[in-house]
Amino acid sequence: MDSIRITGGNRLEGQIPISGAKNSALTLLPCALLTSEKVTLTNLPRLADVDNFSHLLNELGGSTKVAAVKKGEIGRRMTIEAREIASTVAPYDMVRKMRASILVLGPMLARAGESTVSLPGGCAIGDRPIDLHLKALEAMGAQIELAAGYVKAVAPGGRLAGGDYSFPVVSVGATENALMAASLAAGRTQLFNAAREPEIVDLCKLLVAMGAKIEGIGSSHLIIDGVEALGGCTYEVMPDRIEAGSYACAAGITGGSIELVGARPADMLAITNGLAAAGLVIEMTDKGMRVTADKSLKPLAVSTAPYPGFPTDMQAQFMAMLCVADGQSFLEETIFENRYMHVPELRRMGADIEVHGRSAIVKGNAKLTGAKVMATDLRASMSLILAGLAAEGETEVMRVYHLDRGYERLEEKLSAVGATIERVSGG
Ligand code: EPZ
Repeated sequence: MDSIRITGGNRLEGQIPISGAKNSALTLLPCALLTSEKVTLTNLPRLADVDNFSHLLNELGGSTKVAAVKKGEIGRRMTIEAREIASTVAPYDMVRKMRASILVLGPMLARAGESTVSLPGGCAIGDRPIDLHLKALEAMGAQIELAAGYVKAVAPGGRLAGGDYSFPVVSVGATENALMAASLAAGRTQLFNAAREPEIVDLCKLLVAMGAKIEGIGSSHLIIDGVEALGGCTYEVMPDRIEAGSYACAAGITGGSIELVGARPADMLAITNGLAAAGLVIEMTDKGMRVTADKSLKPLAVSTAPYPGFPTDMQAQFMAMLCVADGQSFLEETIFENRYMHVPELRRMGADIEVHGRSAIVKGNAKLTGAKVMATDLRASMSLILAGLAAEGETEVMRVYHLDRGYERLEEKLSAVGATIERVSGG
């Protein structure tokens, strides 16, 4: 297994190109199952999860062609064509590798009238049930059966009806599955307390470009009037707000200045508000935004929340940065029950952090020292990279396959702004 080695202490300065958003790509890709026509996605990030998803689409009958990257383009261009659904089963060995595979459940059910997907199971950050996905589909008439570790959904008569569903908890994935299923249902579906993340807006925009009828885009009340069929189109994946926020924290923790090229500030207000409150200077540029830390960081009190609140996917990265702030910070993780896996590893690097249930107190003014540390989940891994950038001496982050799921060409992007960082192949 590969690891990443960093010698900390460099002030990072320069430009980092921001890739297409992983959490948008993973919900745009299954939309290709909703039509027999070609769907071309551009600005796709080069990530393990995107590759795994295209293999899953192949398994279900979708052909996927990746075009050569045009000069100046960062992302990949992939054309998916699901002329026929060859199989309506998403097998365990594929879903096990990537829980976002559950996002084929809704579109396959809508297109083929039935869908069988291995239950994704939990992961490092929490139990991550899919009960809300299933309840939303049942509201559209789906019959759901759970057996042998699989969920099987059937649309009576081969087509979902419209229906109303109010989410008791905001769920990004359940909103996505419901949106994709409702787009081909017979009749009107209303979703209440729907997730409002920018990735949901990206999904709505792709569906509308394919011919779907959706009102309330960007709000928590979505109204979808199902159509008989959807068509193909070409669509550009939005830039990754979490990748951009993660590299902004790299500027913060090293006292540097990084221009995030291609970042979309409007998606990141809760993140940039947090950065500004910590004393970083945020400047809009014609290419994106520049984040500069020209004085010591101020401590913060941060509580994660569904969009437009502070994103849970930025909690670990902010915690790493706040380890070197001038004072005590308070973090509260309200979305996932076990998203402090980075804390023991940060402590081994000299951080002083206390965890009490969903809350964490970060003492600040830490003198971080390099160490061998273990990645556990995607964003925890990034927090260890960030700590390594500021730590004295050498840090080696093991199990970087976690990182490769969500950060494209990480070591290349960071060394381009002055980090001493290399990938060590573990054989
Ligand atoms: C998406 O996961 C993202 N993943 C996550 O990003 C992100 O952390 C999360 O949304 C929250 O923003 C992708 O988009 C691929 P949820 P998702 O359903 O859809 C509970 C990353 O690091 N819940 O919004 O799985 C759930 O347990 C990843 O990029 C139910 O109870 O998240 C959690 O407590 C990590 N029942 C809360 O809702 C359900 O049926 C929010 O989960 C579904 C969810």
